[in-house]
Amino acid sequence: MEKLRLAVFASHEGTNLQALIDAQKEGHLLAEVVCVISNNSEAGALRRAKSANIPSYHLSDKMFENVDDYIQALLNILEKHKVDLIVLAGYMKMIPSTIIEKYHHRILNIHPALLPKYGGKGMFGLNVHKAVIEAGEKFSGATVHLVDEEYDRGKILNQVQVEVMPGDTPETLAARILPYEHKLYVETINKIAKKEIILE
Ligand code: GRF
Repeated sequence: MEKLRLAVFASHEGTNLQALIDAQKEGHLLAEVVCVISNNSEAGALRRAKSANIPSYHLSDKMFENVDDYIQALLNILEKHKVDLIVLAGYMKMIPSTIIEKYHHRILNIHPALLPKYGGKGMFGLNVHKAVIEAGEKFSGATVHLVDEEYDRGKILNQVQVEVMPGDTPETLAARILPYEHKLYVETINKIAKKEIILE
């Protein structure tokens, strides 16, 4: 069976990307990371891609005169690598609607909370965990969902619950959830590959 070809978009450290790379190396991923794109030239994700000999690209709308050239540059990379699924992993930029249309129901994101709660504009990084703790939630977790035009609103594909401990800070909660995110992304992509999760 042809492996699903993944383009991973990441803006930061890239531990979710690393989890996919490691799973692929160990033969546990029914997919292949064929390219990595980051809007941040300093992203750890670009370093991790290079170490794994995966084509990596620093691409930001700021590098282009107009947004159409930026979108075309993104599309050229996705077409060049015959990408099946776009996987957002800590990617801080909105995906242009042209790309969302062209890759309709084929763009995934992972969010470090149990959507639909604690999602939406401004809800990223430690803000998410701060809100969960302030609300006195006993559980948080991670969610893999389809990406559409609004932050964190697309169809929920898979979730994992993680306990909030007394005395948790946003940092300790984030650190407890992160390994669960890594497992959830691999599991979800494998379920998609096995058609146990249907994206349409
Ligand atoms: C993760 O917590 C993810 O849920 C959020 O951004 C973080 C990315 O971490 N979207 P990393 O760059 O994959 O380590």
